[in-house]
Amino acid sequence: MSALLEARGLKKRFGGNEAVSNVSFVVNAGECVVLAGDNGAGKSTVIKMISGVYTPTEGEVHFDGRLITGRSAEAVRSAGIETIYQDLALADNLDPGLNLYLGRERTRRILGLPFLDRKAMRRDAVDVLKSLGIVVPDPTLPVRDLSGGQRQSIAIARAIHWQAKLVIMDEPTAALGVPEQREVMALIGRLKSQGVGIILISHNLPDIFAAADRIIVLARGVVAGERRPSETNDEEIVRMMMGATL
Ligand SMILES: Nc1ncnc2c1ncn2[C@@H]1O[C@H](COP(=O)(O)OP(=O)(O)O)[C@@H](O)[C@H]1O
Ligand SMILES: [Mg+2]
Repeated sequence: MSALLEARGLKKRFGGNEAVSNVSFVVNAGECVVLAGDNGAGKSTVIKMISGVYTPTEGEVHFDGRLITGRSAEAVRSAGIETIYQDLALADNLDPGLNLYLGRERTRRILGLPFLDRKAMRRDAVDVLKSLGIVVPDPTLPVRDLSGGQRQSIAIARAIHWQAKLVIMDEPTAALGVPEQREVMALIGRLKSQGVGIILISHNLPDIFAAADRIIVLARGVVAGERRPSETNDEEIVRMMMGATL
């Protein structure tokens, strides 16, 4: 079986500084790969090279049998990779439905003129969220009034609604309380069972061990090691994060 995603020899230079070099890994369908590493290790830079935010200085990204290196973020998203960034990129002032359709809004025509179909978008948002086991009390409220966990769910709902084949999450639980972190971890499990590949960025060891099928540790911009959770432990992962040699 060929991999859903393959990153080959990724390098990113910012000015004279090499933030990431020689990063290669694969993600298979239905698999959660955790990118672990300390602050500044290069995790966000790696995923931005995959999601089309950055063009790699060197290296290639193959997705679903195609070379996608150098495509725009929008084109990568259309190809089936949904990225949930650290800051979530939700529009706080809009309701969940409009957030679900952000950038690809549904319209309907009245007397030949296009209008946003808020009702249909809200209905879709409620449906997708319900399928995730999440009830939003009032779908007309802007998402700024929702809890961190609910906001995260909307970002994940967006990935599901648009039938992403790969979902990338950059520290999704960092700003959440413990019950909400559990919700997000459960959602990751559900996505996996639907065959979606996941790249999860985290430096939270319990999250890493709970979610990962494979753990790839980045230290100072390079891959310090790759392990299955069953063949390693907290101590070794921390040592690898600190940049100790294999
Ligand atoms: N846009 C940028 N311009 C210059 N340097 C950057 C930029 N983005 C990240 N870096 C640098 O690249 C390194 C890796 O950063 P980052 O990928 O954000 O790490 P992580 O997500 O693992 O915390 C850091 O040294 C950071 O300062
Ligand atoms: Mg980061």
